Amino acid sequence: MPAADPQRPVELRLRDALDAAAVGVPRGALSGSVERLIERYRAGGAAAAPILTSPTDVLAYAAYRMPATLAACRSMLRHGAFRLPPIESVVDLGGGTGAAAWAALSEWPEARVTVLDQVGDALALGRKLLAGEAADVEFASWRVGAAVPAADLVTVSYVLSELTPDAQRSLVAAAAGAARRAVAIVEPGTPTGYRRILAARTALLDAGWRIVAPCPHQHPCPLREPDWCHFSARVERSSLHRQLKGGDLGHEDEKFSYVVAVPGDSVDGAVADGGGAEARILRHPVKRKGLVELQLCRPDGSAGRQVVTKRQGASYKQARDVRWGDAWRL
Ligand SMILES: C[S@@+](CC[C@H](N)C(=O)[O-])C[C@H]1O[C@@H](n2cnc3c(N)ncnc32)[C@H](O)[C@@H]1O
Repeated sequence: MPAADPQRPVELRLRDALDAAAVGVPRGALSGSVERLIERYRAGGAAAAPILTSPTDVLAYAAYRMPATLAACRSMLRHGAFRLPPIESVVDLGGGTGAAAWAALSEWPEARVTVLDQVGDALALGRKLLAGEAADVEFASWRVGAAVPAADLVTVSYVLSELTPDAQRSLVAAAAGAARRAVAIVEPGTPTGYRRILAARTALLDAGWRIVAPCPHQHPCPLREPDWCHFSARVERSSLHRQLKGGDLGHEDEKFSYVVAVPGDSVDGAVADGGGAEARILRHPVKRKGLVELQLCRPDGSAGRQVVTKRQGASYKQARDVRWGDAWRL
């Protein structure tokens, strides 16, 4: 595969790699797999056996999901990463075709990345997709419960939903056990995905970890049903994506819930919550003439509305530019 142009945005480089991998593969077979996978993931529930069962499934998954999981992982790392020290090594658990690896490399291009998964075909495609990138990545066979090699950052992207609650707990503990500097876990931004993230967050706090993002505090989550903490990442759809998933829109919005944590005794942990000076924006800011309404999660562990008016000058200017998921300086 020719070397990818590093100046080209990572989303487009992934798109090129997916298009190249799909050349000559009958669209009917891929669409059949996409339909089956959408149904399976919608049904939810732990999987007794791997859900991706063939090279076609794996390519279908990569083509219709990877751009979205890359976007979610990139947002998560961008929100959390500015508090992290330089990351030199990453282990991605249940990494499949490598979406989190692409995201980590876009943040830390020099990092050594290891993608671990139970599905050999997913690892093989992941390797092929990254072949044109100047990146130090290894793909290896692994199952939840097996030892996890140590790394600065351990990522777990869209994996918990496939596991029993016991296996989820064991995976989060294994991720924390192997991570030297940070753990980053992301799930679909549904109420059930959020609940899995909440359980992971509680387990990390109980184990002495400190939350870096999205929460600007270490208190219990202030959101109450039917509300839930989730964010959104815009994904531009390629023609391959449109062919496989149908629909005319040129983009879709990937909803995700996540947590990024650092060891409680690390220097990074000391500044993890923004020194109590930052809140997290929990919804699309509502912009009206002369005012912006923000929904915030605050450093004191509360959540609620803040209205910023034109009279507040610099704050108002800042409020006009912020987006759902950003930090808000108080
Ligand atoms: C929905 S895919 C997510 C893939 C990738 N992390 C991403 O974000 O696109 C879930 C992945 O978890 C892996 N997985 C699920 N259960 C596993 C287990 N028990 N051991 C290892 N990998 C597992 C699957 O093989 C699959 O690649």
